Amino acid sequence: MTATKGLEGIVAASSSISSIIDGVLTYRGINIDDLAEHATFEEVAYLLWYGKLPNRAELDELQAKLDEHAAIPAQVIQQIKLYPQNSNSMAALRTAVSSLGLYDPTANDMSPEANQLKAIKLQAQLPTVIAAFARIREGKEPVAPKKGVSIAYNFLYMLTGNDPDEIAVKALDQALVLHADHELNASTFAGRVTVATLSDIYSGVTSAIGALKGPLHGGANEAVMVMLEEIGTIGNVESYINNALANKQKIMGFGHRVYKDGDPRAKHLQHMSRELGKLTGNMELYEMSIKIEELVTGQKGLKPNVDFYSASVYTNLNIPRDLFTPIFAISRVSGWSAHILEQYQDNRLIRPRADYVGPVNAKYIPIEQR
Ligand code: ACO
Repeated sequence: MTATKGLEGIVAASSSISSIIDGVLTYRGINIDDLAEHATFEEVAYLLWYGKLPNRAELDELQAKLDEHAAIPAQVIQQIKLYPQNSNSMAALRTAVSSLGLYDPTANDMSPEANQLKAIKLQAQLPTVIAAFARIREGKEPVAPKKGVSIAYNFLYMLTGNDPDEIAVKALDQALVLHADHELNASTFAGRVTVATLSDIYSGVTSAIGALKGPLHGGANEAVMVMLEEIGTIGNVESYINNALANKQKIMGFGHRVYKDGDPRAKHLQHMSRELGKLTGNMELYEMSIKIEELVTGQKGLKPNVDFYSASVYTNLNIPRDLFTPIFAISRVSGWSAHILEQYQDNRLIRPRADYVGPVNAKYIPIEQR
């Protein structure tokens, strides 16, 4: 038995949810480029869960369920108020989502209908949790979710207490579409491994959030913004990047396990970054990002991934830096839950083997002789 480090190239599940074939990403066979241009995030979530785009009545029904379940239990809000002041936002989200399971009387109902409804509840509640966390740490009361508006609208509304402008809603909605699913990425795999023990969906999504938190995965979008802030101005880009590459540091937001020829989502986010930069009159982040891309691609052949331009997009939407990865989770919970439902449909425990490389025939030594 020999191990494949990082399971690179290992096919670990069959799935009909999303595919990456020859560098093209599809959700249920539909090219991400088409969805990014035409679909709303709610349509995409429906597509991931049910395998087809919704008609008007089906979309209205989904919207009604999202409206019904978007509020979070008062006890969870009370708990968030007790979190330490400087809690890491992804750790807070992971903790709150685990708590949501405690207050859902159907948490352990494993019927397909109950699990499908829990997927919708989680989708509806994640934005509410994150917005509540963001306000509570600023000493403000959470804003209750609005009915009849999109998830993108509601999140921005709950964050600020004000109705967001149309351009911001459209940009966030498109970002949510682009992040919704991505085959067997690390967090989705973590979620599937957890529920393959026949554990509940809250446990699966909690595992997935833990995996997304890391800077080699979803945490990279925040890390990109840290880098942009450290660089400060366009004049510092060249020396910063040359120095980082000379010191063999990883440049966050570049490279990908699966795409070697570029992440198809990045161009949409790059476009959005430029448009939002023009609108807000703050082109510097975009221009710095372009310069970083030129240098990293030129010197290392590495292309930007989905996280790279997300950083300037979210900053231009006035979203605090440490909410970037939680926003990724708002979107990806649609994909996680679709994968969890798929796993339940044809489940087998996921239990690989390890290539043991430790000592053999070692003897037990009594404590007095050690
Ligand atoms: N900057 C500089 N060098 C890099 C980068 C980078 N961002 N990414 C890969 N490399 C180099 C590595 O140093 C390594 O070089 P070496 O062979 O000389 O040692 C080579 O490219 C291969 O890199 P690995 O880390 O082995 O590639 P792997 O497939 O394991 O990792 C990953 C992929 C984690 C995305 C990696 O490219 C990386 O760390 N990128 C930065 C973090 C990031 O942006 N993560 C978000 C990914 S997208 C997402 O999860 C949503």
